[in-house]
Amino acid sequence: MVDIRKAVFPAAGFGTRFLPATKAIPKEMLPLVDKPLIQYVVEEAKSSGLQEIIIVTGMGKTAIEDHFDTSFELEKLLQERGKYELLKMIEEVSGMVHFAYTRQKKPLGLGHAISITRNLINNEPFSVFLGDDIIDSRVPAMKQMIGVYKKYSTSVLAVQKVPRSDARLYGIIKGKKVAPNVYRVLDLVEKPKGTPPSNLAIIGRYILTPGIFNALEVTRPGAGGEIQLTDALKILIQTEEIYACEFEGARYDAGDKLGFLKANVSLALKRPDIRADFVKFLKGLKL
Ligand code: G1P
Repeated sequence: MVDIRKAVFPAAGFGTRFLPATKAIPKEMLPLVDKPLIQYVVEEAKSSGLQEIIIVTGMGKTAIEDHFDTSFELEKLLQERGKYELLKMIEEVSGMVHFAYTRQKKPLGLGHAISITRNLINNEPFSVFLGDDIIDSRVPAMKQMIGVYKKYSTSVLAVQKVPRSDARLYGIIKGKKVAPNVYRVLDLVEKPKGTPPSNLAIIGRYILTPGIFNALEVTRPGAGGEIQLTDALKILIQTEEIYACEFEGARYDAGDKLGFLKANVSLALKRPDIRADFVKFLKGLKL
């Protein structure tokens, strides 16, 4: 079994659901309390033992690179002013893990974004994190999935049960339960229009074998006219087993306005520095 070392973060989308906020700022940089969305996901990757982050960017995304870079002027200023707590926090961000960036020149979909990392991945199994999905869990979601990967040595998808009426928003799997939180994937469909095959939705965490790259090469545009990762997985499943891990944890769709607000409130309530005042404020709201 080959260890998972690399994590791909597709971050080239336009963030149209958050316009006008995302006109000049990448959606990945929108803050949850005081940290940009992408930092939560990078922290999950780091605490799951991943060492190399490959961010797939596009036009107008340089703020992401700046965020994870060292900022000499800022660090000098904080040092001079004796703001050591903040300095430590800033240094932690830039020293997180090793980052590489590659550009998706055309918005051709999630599958396409993954396919352009082929040379950087270099024929080993790797992980994918979708930054819209923020997962708050005791054990990092990706770490839970790596546990499943260690058992089966093949691709593992994160899944969670969703109301059937929401199935049209997700990739949905048809699975056979093989362990308490593990399914063998029998079939998958991206954003089903008719009756979904189950209520198990793919959430934005994947462990993929390099076989996905050949599958992506022959994947035709699917839902929304885009090259869909789910469609490539449907091709891959013809030659390799794929498993799904129903992870433990609360997941927020931070790419959606309501989900973003829920994530902000829930995470703020977990922050010891603001919790008491925030609770007081929420209780005082006339709802
Ligand atoms: C993507 C995937 C979909 C998955 C979802 C999870 O869709 O294509 O299979 O269920 O992420 O968040 P998107 O939300 O980008 O439309």
